[in-house]
Amino acid sequence: MTLPLNPAMAATEAPPVMEARRWLAETTLPAGLPLINVSQAAPVDPPPAALRQAIAAAALDDPAAHLYGPVLGLPALRAEVAARWQGAYGGAIAPAQVAITQGCNQAFCAVMATLAGAGDAVLLPVPWYFNHKMWCDMAGVDAVPLPCGPDMVPDPAAAAALIGPRTRAIVLVTPNNPTGAEYPADVVAAFFRLARDRGLALILDETYRDFDSRAAPPHGLFADPTWPGTLIHLYSFSKAYRLTGHRVGAIIADADRLAQVEKFLDTVAICPGQLGQVAALWGMRNLAQWVAGERAEILDRRAAVIAGFAGLPGWRLTGCGAYFAWAEHPFALPSEAVAKATLAQQGILMLPGTMFAPPGDPVGAGAVRIAFANVDRSGIGQLVARLAALDLPRA
Ligand SMILES: Cc1ncc(COP(=O)(O)O)c(C=O)c1O
Repeated sequence: MTLPLNPAMAATEAPPVMEARRWLAETTLPAGLPLINVSQAAPVDPPPAALRQAIAAAALDDPAAHLYGPVLGLPALRAEVAARWQGAYGGAIAPAQVAITQGCNQAFCAVMATLAGAGDAVLLPVPWYFNHKMWCDMAGVDAVPLPCGPDMVPDPAAAAALIGPRTRAIVLVTPNNPTGAEYPADVVAAFFRLARDRGLALILDETYRDFDSRAAPPHGLFADPTWPGTLIHLYSFSKAYRLTGHRVGAIIADADRLAQVEKFLDTVAICPGQLGQVAALWGMRNLAQWVAGERAEILDRRAAVIAGFAGLPGWRLTGCGAYFAWAEHPFALPSEAVAKATLAQQGILMLPGTMFAPPGDPVGAGAVRIAFANVDRSGIGQLVARLAALDLPRA
């Protein structure tokens, strides 16, 4: 006899990155072509030694680092985020409007659990970040696809037409995963006004904010004193400080909203891990210059990707930023077949666009996501040369 299975869970797709790892395990790589892994959006190198030492010191010397802590995170970390975000975006953000979570994925699930239940709807631009879609599926929330324009930026007017009586939120990721698109500040502001006027939450996932190419703040929403009535901002410490395994993220939202979030976080995790929080705090206080160097390197790799694809016949880069290139391929095959063939022929592991789009959506079948953050300039040169050598039927 099999045990019951929640049908919403059964209907949720399996984690795509695990699926890609299975392809890797099943595929014999071509001789002489070492793997170029552009499948995952995570730094592979450890954090700087001084940050690891700060973690070690806390582990050895601070007994509290091994105990449960406050559900919404360490007060010093909440205050540091509030002060730094205020400095970066302008406006007023209080420590009570910051919650620390076990990563930005948990931050998303927590705020969504406070906003939408089974039968409600949220708008997700397509292509979407698959874990956002997966949470909606598990929770019985209808993820309404919001198509993007040719520049991979969604249109507020198109979003307005998709809002129904059960719509609870609009979700934006900028810079975007999977497309790399940096949404212009005026577009983000228009989404804010739309959400505010229709009584919806605007969830802004800025996991990749540290790698935005623009010198100016990416939006001015926090400078509007009414922001807590509409905006829910999400952040991850995973990328900028290379802390993926420590699971530290943040929510900035109205304090009343965070009182609801606290119920979720207490139930699923009790509190965020202490060592990760120590690391995030130490990183923010000591690594600004190092993070600036990381950003410069990522922007240089982005420039190398743009230059490389400009010389690749038939390919078209429709988005490129943060860790990602979103590339339309020239082949008469859906992107999953292209990705598998690219692994087998050229030893490149990348994710097909189908993993980021509703079934049958041409935006997914026609493109691949290349997460280039771990590949240096010379590796990007090899990547482009290998893509040029792919032997597949052209459309
Ligand atoms: C848009 C986006 N949000 C959230 C996350 C997850 O971040 P974290 O490691 O903090 O859970 C990622 C990681 O890839 C992401 O791309």
